[in-house]
Amino acid sequence: MALQTAPPRLGSWGTPAHGSLLLLLLCLGWVLPSRAQAADVGLALLSSSVQRTSRDLSWQQPELTVLLPRARRGTEKKACPPGREAQVVDENLFFYEEWELEACVDGALLATQMRQVNLIPFTYQQLHIFKRKLDEFYPQGYPQSLIERLSYFFLYVTPEDIHKWNVTSLDTVKSLLKVSQGRGVDAQVAALIARYVGGGGQLDKAALDTLATFRPAYLCFLRPEQLDSVQLSVLWMTTPQDLDACSPPQMAVLYHKAHMAFQNVSGSEYFTRIKPFLGGASTEDLRVFTSQNISIDAAAFKKLTTEAVLSLTVAEVQKLLGPNLVGLKAETGNMFLRDWISRQSQEDLDRLGLGLVGGVPNGYLVLDLRGREASSGGPHRLGQGPGPVLTVTASLLLVSVLS
Ligand SMILES: *[C@@H]1O[C@H](CO)[C@@H](O)[C@H](O)[C@H]1NC(C)=O
Ligand SMILES: *[C@@H]1O[C@H](CO)[C@@H](O)[C@H](O)[C@H]1NC(C)=O
Ligand SMILES: *[C@@H]1O[C@H](CO)[C@@H](O)[C@H](O)[C@H]1NC(C)=O
Repeated sequence: MALQTAPPRLGSWGTPAHGSLLLLLLCLGWVLPSRAQAADVGLALLSSSVQRTSRDLSWQQPELTVLLPRARRGTEKKACPPGREAQVVDENLFFYEEWELEACVDGALLATQMRQVNLIPFTYQQLHIFKRKLDEFYPQGYPQSLIERLSYFFLYVTPEDIHKWNVTSLDTVKSLLKVSQGRGVDAQVAALIARYVGGGGQLDKAALDTLATFRPAYLCFLRPEQLDSVQLSVLWMTTPQDLDACSPPQMAVLYHKAHMAFQNVSGSEYFTRIKPFLGGASTEDLRVFTSQNISIDAAAFKKLTTEAVLSLTVAEVQKLLGPNLVGLKAETGNMFLRDWISRQSQEDLDRLGLGLVGGVPNGYLVLDLRGREASSGGPHRLGQGPGPVLTVTASLLLVSVLS
């Protein structure tokens, strides 16, 4: 948009009052509403300087207008005009053209004067030039000394940038979370948490409470014991994709928490809510579902952990999937399903009528299987799994699949 790249039309501003100048900048898209607060201090300086420079520069206006198309078209690197090299970050830079910022400002200066960068209401375009300068100056990632002074500039970095950082200070994390609130930078927040926790950092309750106000894209970056301290309200905000990268130990904690969080809903709503967390359900948790009128679909079944499914009997799996049982047939390429199949009696599998093969042949280990059938009817104590011979069969199958 022309307005966003055009230089300010100084002459037409007259001598605006502070408030109306801010309003004007907001209207023109020169200042983000989010920056207005930080801009406030800068504007006091700026409005006086506008009044000053508008008088000084008003005769230059035609020249500025002519320069603009050339600056936008030209990709050639221009040298900084004499006397324009930036020695400090101040409000004068606001009136530099983009090519001048490119040519006259360097990353080292920006890094040392980050406070000023945040104070002056630079435009998106100007800030992006600054970011490029900083990225060129720190190709390996920003140093901690800069990260801790980053403040609002954090809103302009990408998750990829953040993944290069070392973040060891909880205070830094907290201050960056504060500037991020309500700004839709959940992916950046998740990356920040990943770096901090990945570097061994501990989050305290205050940090976790602040985190609870963001979309929980960070969940899979928290250690299981940290997940245990997450507020239950977070579970209500969690979407399936927030859980994509979680490991089984993380899912086990999250399932448990989700189960607690969703206590005030029941029936199909409870099941809809808990479904994304099923990957953390234990065999016992799954058995609870078999006694309820719910049906896990094949996609959700695939997300269950091998450990949880292996001890389920054919009858239990049948109840768990209900009408979705036919979907199992399509999943027989799945290693964990083959593993489960290899532990069932072929006779039981045949009863499903799905044509599942690979179970324990009929007549083989009869005693062992009878023992299981007896126990599956009474109170469940199936944590021990099948007998040793069956385990060997499964491992052999595993070996043959892997080799
Ligand atoms: C992060 O720390 C590692 C190990 O100390 C170091 O090699 C690397 O340069 C650091 N990166 C940054 C961006 O400071
Ligand atoms: C259950 O609690 C959550 C969070 O406390 C709330 O958002 C939800 O509306 C409640 N649902 C019902 C049915 O009470
Ligand atoms: C179980 O669910 C089915 C369909 O979802 C319904 O027709 C049936 O009445 C339910 N049975 C019980 C006992 O809730």
